[in-house]
This record gives sequence, C-alpha cells and structure tokens, in this order.
Amino acid sequence: MENFSLSRCELIQLSEDTFIVTFNERIDFEPTQFIMIETETSIVRKPFGLGRWNDRLAIGVQVIGPGTAYMVQQEKLYAHGPCGRGFVPPEGRGAVIATLACLPMVFDLQERYNCDVLIGSVDEPWIEVPFPLVVGDEAFLKMLQSLNGYDWFLVIGSDQMEKIAYDALKNKGEVFVSFNEYMACGIGACRGCAKVTKHGLKHLCIDGPVLRGEEVWN
Ligand SMILES: Cc1cc2nc3c(=O)[nH]c(=O)nc-3n(C[C@H](O)[C@H](O)[C@H](O)COP(=O)(O)OP(=O)(O)OC[C@H]3O[C@@H](n4cnc5c(N)ncnc54)[C@H](O)[C@@H]3O)c2cc1C
Ligand code: FES
Repeated sequence: MENFSLSRCELIQLSEDTFIVTFNERIDFEPTQFIMIETETSIVRKPFGLGRWNDRLAIGVQVIGPGTAYMVQQEKLYAHGPCGRGFVPPEGRGAVIATLACLPMVFDLQERYNCDVLIGSVDEPWIEVPFPLVVGDEAFLKMLQSLNGYDWFLVIGSDQMEKIAYDALKNKGEVFVSFNEYMACGIGACRGCAKVTKHGLKHLCIDGPVLRGEEVWN
C-alpha cells in the first residue's frame, strides 16, 4: 500500500458521462484491485478500479456526482492503494460482463486471463469498443441468456446490473461479483464497507471487492 500522485496523460470520453483517464505513472496491481482517490468535494476518498488502456495505467470514471466530476477535470490526482484482493479466476472458460466505465479493468483482465469480455451500455459509446457490446436493457438480457459453455463469470458494474446478471447466470457457472459497497478508508480500518454474507461479516475493501455472488444472494 502506497500513497502516490498520478499525472494525467489522456482523457478519453466514452459517452455523455463516462471517461477513461490514463496516467503517466506505473503501479503494480492485481486484477480488480482499486485505488482510493482524493477529491476536494469530500473528506472521504473514492474507490476506482485499476486497469490499463493504450499501454498505460488507467481508470474508467462514470460521472455521477461532485467527486467524479472533479476527477475528470484534474491534471493531477492523489491516491492510495492498491487496495483489495486481486481476482484469481478458477479453472476453465470464463466471461467478464461489465459496464463501459470498467473498460480499463476488463482490458487488463482479458490480457491476463484470456477470458471473454462482454460490455453492456445504456448508450451507444462514442468510440469503438474492442469487445462485443450491447446497448440497452433488452439487449443486455438477451446477451446474458445467450451465454453458454462457460465455467465462471465475473460481473462488474452497478448494483442493479450485477443482480440482474447474477440471476441470469447463476445456474450456468460460478458467478463472481465485484460489490459496490461504500468505502471510506480502503484499508480495513473504518469498517464502513462491511457486508453481511452467508459466511459472516466481510469487509469488502480487504476481503473483496470480488466475492462469489452466492455468498450474498440466493
Ligand atoms: C471497489 C469499487 C470500485 C469502483 N470502481 C469504479 C470505477 O472503476 N469507475 C467508476 O466510475 N466508479 C467506480 N466505483 C464507484 C465510485 O467510487 C463512485 O461512483 C464515486 O465514489 C462517486 O463519487 P461522487 O462524489 O461522484 O458521487 P456522490 O454524489 O458522492 O455519490 C453518488 C453515489 O456514488 C456512490 N459512492 C459515493 N461515494 C462513495 C464511496 N466513497 N465509496 C463507494 N461508493 C461511493 C454511492 O452509491 C452514492 O450514492 C467503484 C466503487 C467501488 C466500491
Ligand atoms: S473502507 Fe474502511 S474498512 Fe473497508
């Protein structure tokens, strides 16, 4: 765990509200680990999944409030990390289902684990996405129904999208979910990210963010 400053290399707009920020620095991290980024809009740092884009360290940012709006305006960001456990997939053929803001994370995952990646987006992206992509809820559901022959799935996105994907996939293979609990410290100190699971209380910043879906949902 380190503190670092990150200088922006590129800001790539993916849609009305979603961006990729690439950085000049390099950080060693494992897939699905995240950093806690300082904003001037809150005393609490904000978690963002680490990934790669254009051969650089990168994060995806969906602007949903003051902290994310601040982040895409800054040339320099201050953060600590990497936080969380890296995701290590089980044996077999895997598919990662993610939203547009997760592109850098899933790009890194695919390079490391040679899994398939499928992106679900609310809007048509403004750039060409290097993975199969579906736009809209109906197309997303159809895509989930068409996924067969996989041993495991990893779902990364919003709470609602993750639950829909879990319900559609739970009988087709082992489903892992990157949970979006509120995080304040990212290091297991504040207990803010506690999640009740079938195996007791877990703190997602140190035990996650990825858990088996069945640990949390039926
Ligand atoms: C492990 C993890 C990885 C994440 N990775 C990404 C990512 O790669 N790209 C991305 O766009 N978003 C990611 N998020 C979500 C991102 O952290 C929130 O969207 C961001 O903190 C919102 O801040 P805001 O000030 O813009 O919005 P606010 O107006 O402060 O809040 C809007 C909503 O964002 C969520 N949120 C706010 N603060 C936090 C916090 N400290 N911790 C968790 N959620 C919060 C809450 O659901 C809240 O209702 C991740 C969340 C987690 C838990
Ligand atoms: S965010 Fe503080 S304990 Fe997890």
